[in-house]
Amino acid sequence: MDRIFSGVQPSGNLHLGNYLGAIRNFVRLQDQYECIYCVVDLHAITVWQNPEDLRHNTRELTAAFIAAGLDPSKNVIMNQSQNPHHAELAWIFNCVARLGWLNRMTQFKEKAGKNRENASVGLYAYPNLMAADILAYKATHVPVGEDQKQHLELCRDIAQKFNNDFGVDLFPIVEPLILGPATRVMSLRDGSSKMSKSDPSDNSRINLTDGPDAIAQKIRRARTDPEPLPSEADGLDGRPEAANLVGIYAALADGQVATVLQEFGGSLFSEFKNALTDIAVAKLGPIGEEMQRLMAEPAYIDSVLADGGARARALSEPVMAEVFDTVGLVRG
Ligand code: TYM
Repeated sequence: MDRIFSGVQPSGNLHLGNYLGAIRNFVRLQDQYECIYCVVDLHAITVWQNPEDLRHNTRELTAAFIAAGLDPSKNVIMNQSQNPHHAELAWIFNCVARLGWLNRMTQFKEKAGKNRENASVGLYAYPNLMAADILAYKATHVPVGEDQKQHLELCRDIAQKFNNDFGVDLFPIVEPLILGPATRVMSLRDGSSKMSKSDPSDNSRINLTDGPDAIAQKIRRARTDPEPLPSEADGLDGRPEAANLVGIYAALADGQVATVLQEFGGSLFSEFKNALTDIAVAKLGPIGEEMQRLMAEPAYIDSVLADGGARARALSEPVMAEVFDTVGLVRG
């Protein structure tokens, strides 16, 4: 049976890219598949996290999942550290994946920066844990933004090598689901870099917790070029900031880039930015408000995670039994 797994790091500053590239698609998929949505706290600690902030961000991300429309009774909503099978399987995958494969991961290179020697071992082995997240449930489909594509290719390689090494057909070869017109939302300050939680400029991103005034101000200040909007999509070539804002509008309006340009072709950015602000406030405002309401009920959020953790362990238990047996690890 088809099963969805996806995860988001509770590293704070949850933004429009996370929403349009991932969380919104999670909500759409919940009616078609059995879904497990995970707050990947073990991934977050591959770089330093203040413990109090980590607790807060874990609850806030859970609140965002629910506020965006995920139903905790229909889906498994959990945090990674409540199911030890993720870390256990990740160790086995540390012994399957090759150094050469991990050396090719562009996200490690970006995150480790110039001071590679000082990066945590966890940051390096990060994609193996990600493969374990997915394969501990034999998930078949993984909705993500475009930046996770390379990690999912590694997940496929690990599944294939495990199956070949042991002569089994245990793990599925997962399919990425990269959906919608905003699979790579760019920074509002620089159309050539991705909107990211770790950008030091808060003006580079719209956070899901931003109120209407902050959203309006960030869109007003967003970088653009001096030309009016084109009437057709190829007119966006070489105009990364314009392409980004149009893509965001299309995604928020549930439409296509071409239709947005039919409506706004020839308009000045000042006019388009007003329309973009209106739709962003209309779509994101209620999510931010609901997140705030849920954050006032931490006991409820914790109960969702505890329940999700228990259901998740029950789903991965038979897979782990199969893995232990296949590898030759004796279980009493
Ligand atoms: P993370 O926490 O960086 O991002 C969560 C999701 O948001 C997407 N995303 C974006 N989409 C469009 N535009 C952007 N600017 C943008 N920034 C982020 C990401 O692609 C992702 O889907 N390694 C993962 C978390 C993870 C995971 C997993 C995902 C751990 N285990 C298993 C899928 C399956 C990560 O760091 O996502």
